Amino acid sequence: MTTIKNLSQFENEIVTLKGWVYNIRNSKSIHFIEVRDGSGLCQCIVSADDVSDEVFEAASGLKQESSLEITGKVLKDDRSIGGYELHATDLKVVQIAENYPITPKEHGVEFLMENRHLWLRSRRQWAAMRVRNEIIFAIHTFFQGRGFVQMDSPIFTGNAAEGSTTLFETDYFEEKAYLAQTGQLYGEAMAMAHGLIYTFGPTFRAEKSKTRRHLTEFWMIEPEMAFYDLEMNMDLAEDMIKAIVKTVLEKNKAELEILERDTAALETLAEKRFERMTYTEAVDKLKSDETAELLDEMAASREKELVDIKKEREEIKKEHGSAKKWRKVQIDQRIKEIGARVDQIEEDLRNIPSWKESARNFEWGNDFGGSDETVLMMQFDVPLIVTHWPAEIKAFYMKRDQTDKLALGMDILAPEGYGEIVGGSQREDDLAILEERIAEEGLEKEVFEWYLDLRRYGSVPHSGYGLGLERTVAWICGLSHVRETIPFPRMLGRLRP
Ligand code: 4AD
Ligand code: MG
Repeated sequence: MTTIKNLSQFENEIVTLKGWVYNIRNSKSIHFIEVRDGSGLCQCIVSADDVSDEVFEAASGLKQESSLEITGKVLKDDRSIGGYELHATDLKVVQIAENYPITPKEHGVEFLMENRHLWLRSRRQWAAMRVRNEIIFAIHTFFQGRGFVQMDSPIFTGNAAEGSTTLFETDYFEEKAYLAQTGQLYGEAMAMAHGLIYTFGPTFRAEKSKTRRHLTEFWMIEPEMAFYDLEMNMDLAEDMIKAIVKTVLEKNKAELEILERDTAALETLAEKRFERMTYTEAVDKLKSDETAELLDEMAASREKELVDIKKEREEIKKEHGSAKKWRKVQIDQRIKEIGARVDQIEEDLRNIPSWKESARNFEWGNDFGGSDETVLMMQFDVPLIVTHWPAEIKAFYMKRDQTDKLALGMDILAPEGYGEIVGGSQREDDLAILEERIAEEGLEKEVFEWYLDLRRYGSVPHSGYGLGLERTVAWICGLSHVRETIPFPRMLGRLRP
């Protein structure tokens, strides 16, 4: 069977496509049907001159999302989406769809989320899922290529690992169980058996925060490496991120175009070394005059842009009345774009004063909030690795430095305001210290005995990290919210569909 993706191999040949009507424009003697088949979109032309009356009639009855088989000649056409057109000679209707709820007009995001099972067919959602798929494959390729063993860690767990406030509790035959917040502790056990391992699985956090970065169910990739220190851990994570970005740039050009992703920002990343600084340096940077000035500059340039695009909008609105039909379509599109950008700028302008305030008054010892991360990253065009965190705000398993105040943790912040995509650390490998930590945290020692065994029998320095898949997809696709990075997002207030 021919797919739209492969049409270039069939130029001037007759092929049959099986798919759905993405969009249709009818006139008396010709139908323009945008067909999608899962692999791509193709403009199909059904002309009364080229097909039988019955076929032409059948095409007249097609509605958005009706399913069909369409046969015709493949012709190259650079103006057409995908670069090829199909000039139909025959058409078979599989099903005429009922009135499809998602029309080409604008819909609110709540409505689209209610219809997520259908929204997945829309072009942008389709593109994002293709990128997600490529990222998943790139991650496996990266680790498998370096001799890592993929392992599946349990989803039912008997203990907390990332703080007890975000645990989903469930009944496990009258015993309390929790959905895994991380596979890390099990990953450490496997690393002592295989040296290099990685998990790739769903993780769960009862996050009460309703932000564009939080899901309650998300996928995490957690490599764990025996005999790795913090430095080696960072190098690995940097290599992995570069490999992912490189693959997507190579394989997903079309998808990134559909998503209107400005890829320049991703391309610079390949050659440059990621920024690295300690938490303390990052705090200093955040509180600096330089940062305050940058925010002022940002506000000024946003104000200017706002004036400019509002002016543009007024001008093209005037032109609309007398414009030709094709130009009207362009104008409507541009007005839509301007509207979205105006909303974005106005939101930024509302936020900047509080960002400035929060950055200036940031206190050493606190965790960075979403806005702090955004502000910090305004100054960099590559990811930033922040190391040596106040031990108090990091997990019990992290090894500390000589001062005992700082944890040998590392977070990687993505550029362009996408926030933390990686969290990791060197692990505490000393039995006595780890026992102390568990006691300090008020954790039940018995449930961690198996984990402590890893320090009793051949303990070695080791490190690892977790990459959040959805945040990575959001960043690479340039999506403002993680809800569009996973087929069926689970968030505060969203369990269906
Ligand atoms: O920083 P976190 O909590 O680290 C861990 O869970 C460690 N056990 C990882 C390890 O060392 N093996 O989470 C890691 C990453 C974050 O950087 C973020 O990208 C993602 O997981 N993440 C979330 N993504 C979406 N929604 C949430 N609620 C997330 N919480 C964490
Ligand atoms: Mg973290």
